[in-house]
Formats: sequence, C-alpha cells, structure tokens
Amino acid sequence: MLDVTKARAETPAAESGIYLNNASCSLMPQQVIDAVQDYFALEAKIGGYPALMQDTATFDAVYDSVAALINAKPNEIALMGSHTLAWQSLFQGFRFEEGDRILTSRSEYGANYVAFLQMQKRTGCVIDVIPSGNSGATDPVALEKMIDGSVKLIAINWIPTNGGLMNPAAEIGRVAREQGIPYLLDACQAVGQVSVDVKELGCDYLSSAGRKWLRGPKGTGFLYVREERLSGSGAEPGIIDDFNALWTKPDAYELVSSARRYETHEQEPALRLGLGAAADYARVLGLENIRERVRHLAEGLRAELTGFPGITVQDLGTENAGLVTFSHDTIPAQDITAVLQREDVCVKTIPRAGSFLDTLARDIPELVRVSAHYYNSEDELESFLRVLRGIVGAG
Ligand SMILES: Cc1ncc(COP(=O)(O)O)c(C=O)c1O
Repeated sequence: MLDVTKARAETPAAESGIYLNNASCSLMPQQVIDAVQDYFALEAKIGGYPALMQDTATFDAVYDSVAALINAKPNEIALMGSHTLAWQSLFQGFRFEEGDRILTSRSEYGANYVAFLQMQKRTGCVIDVIPSGNSGATDPVALEKMIDGSVKLIAINWIPTNGGLMNPAAEIGRVAREQGIPYLLDACQAVGQVSVDVKELGCDYLSSAGRKWLRGPKGTGFLYVREERLSGSGAEPGIIDDFNALWTKPDAYELVSSARRYETHEQEPALRLGLGAAADYARVLGLENIRERVRHLAEGLRAELTGFPGITVQDLGTENAGLVTFSHDTIPAQDITAVLQREDVCVKTIPRAGSFLDTLARDIPELVRVSAHYYNSEDELESFLRVLRGIVGAG
C-alpha cells in the first residue's frame, strides 16, 4: 500500500497548485531534485570535466537502475535526452527499401508517425496501420494476418498520448517474436505508471521519456535494445560520432558493442543522475502499488465525469491507464483547460494531431486530458471536479 502523505511530503511542488498533468511532465520528488542539484553544485565547485572524472561508478549505476526498472541488462540501455531522441536514434538507423512495410497502431504518436512519413518519402517504404478491435485496442489477430516477408518493423505505442487505452503490448510482442520481426515499443506513457518487463513484452526495442510517470528530470529518456539486436542489420544508430563509433581504420569504424551505441558524445550527467534516482524511487515504492493507486484515481474520475452533463469520456480499451480524457458537446477543450488553469488546476488540451489517425477514425475534437499520479490526493480530485462542475453548469 502506497503512503500518499509521505509521497506528497517528498514532492515539493505538490502544494503549489493542483497538478493533474503527469502524463506531460510529472513533479519531481526531492530525491530526484537532490541528485540533480548536488551534481550541478559539484560542477560549479570543481568544473564539469573534473566532476565527470571523479566517480564514474555512479554514472554506470544509472544504467543499472534503469535496467532493473524494466528487467533488462545494463548493457541493453542507452540514456538519451528525450523519448523522441531515443526512438529516432533507433528508427533512423533502419534500412528500408521500396515496398518494405512498417506496421503501426491507429493510436501512434504524432512525432513517431511524421518520422514514418519522412522515411516513406525518402525510401518508398509503406506504412500500414494494424486494425483496432471493438474496444479500440490494436488487434494482435489482425496483425498476424498482415505479416509477410515485406514487414520490416512493428512499431506501436503501449499507451497513447490521447487517453487511457492500453494496447496489448505483450500479445503484439508474441506475434513479433514468432515471426522474427523487429518490434519497437513506445512505452513513454507506461514507464513509471505500470510494471514494465521487457522479457514479458517480447519487444526488441523500448523507448521512454524520464519526465512523465517516472518523475525524472526534463531532458531525459532512454532506449532499451535487446542484446540479440546489437549485431547484424538494423543495429546502426541514426547518428554516429566518436563516442558510439570507434574510427578504427582510415576507411572503417566499429560501433561500441552495448546499447550505448545509440548515444552520442555530449551528455548531461546531472540529469542522468536524476533519471537514475527516479528509477530507484519508483522501484522502492513498487510499480504494482503505483499502478493500483493510479488506476483507483483514474477510475474514480471516469465514474464522476460520466455523470456530468454534456461530457463524454473518450478513453478506449478494456483495461485503462491513468490518462483520463473527455470532451464537451459545446465547450472547446482549450476553454475548459484555460478556466481550470485560472483556478490553479493544471490539465492538458490534447491537439487533434497528437494521435491523428485515431482522431480521424473516431471524429473526435481536441480533448481535455487529466492525468493524476499516485501522490495526488482525493481532495485535489474533488477540487478539480468542483471547478469543472462550475464550467459545465452541473449544479
Ligand atoms: C505516447 C508518446 N510517445 C512519445 C512522446 C514524446 O516524448 P518526448 O516529448 O520525450 O520526446 C509522448 C509525449 O507526450 C507520448 O505521449
């Protein structure tokens, strides 16, 4: 059972307003803030390079922390500056040829999808969307039927940006493994919210930001690469430099053997230490406890919102994550978000292009997204609902 009072006490910004936008960027716990600030203080005192040289074991421990969080090995982890940098460093290294197919989900994130489109423009590869089942989740059976020799990559998200949908990531992984097709899972909205076990998921690659449910610093992310994928084709990073590639002969280079081949030279040690602290913090609290509390808060919110006049809860799927989305018949999401903001309640408007294919398929407007984390209190949710009642005229 999670101690909410303690979690709030360890979150300095928790009392500065009602923060219900954890799916964008959560509030850092004191342990994360300390890790970042202590390192910046050391840099200020002795200089950036000497600080880096002082204790390399501490930096290596960050790989251990992130690996432990997702049941991977430290050499399967690359530390990155964001989810997008992690995902792109991997994706841009794939060699697609004309007619090669990328299979993705209807809920795919905008930043990933535009990269597919660019790749299509460059190479003539084909983007195929795996149909969704009745619940709105990506359908593994439909996926199985789409597989042939032209499929070069399956790339989906587990939990999208625009709602509580949870795609059946492990079932997709089973199909990918059976067929030997590389599987890239965007777990940006999952890491820190649910238990992540890359072995159970069966993914070859998994990418995440640090600042969302994991509560790490902004400017952090990571990429997991299954050990077996660190050799052969598809293993070239999108960008190489003299950190991830050794210039061994005038006309040749060798990639470093671990997943660090997806990193480049200039890195931010303070933020990385913060990411490691966030991973440790989540593990100490327990991912099952976190999931239980987040689910409880989200289910309570959905139940309340369903009774509000004019409001439609827009979350898909049978099992739901902590991202609660809704629209109103006449009041645009932007207006609702703005009024809430004036009352010190932070939520987020999700643009239609966030998951554009899904937006078009369901013909939905911009959505209000409310994402409560485990440290949010029931009182905060009640205050949010009170303001919302005023906005929609629910008495
Ligand atoms: C599902 C999903 N994927 C990817 C991203 C992008 O993450 P980043 O902003 O760290 O690049 C987001 C951010 O909201 C997201 O929700």
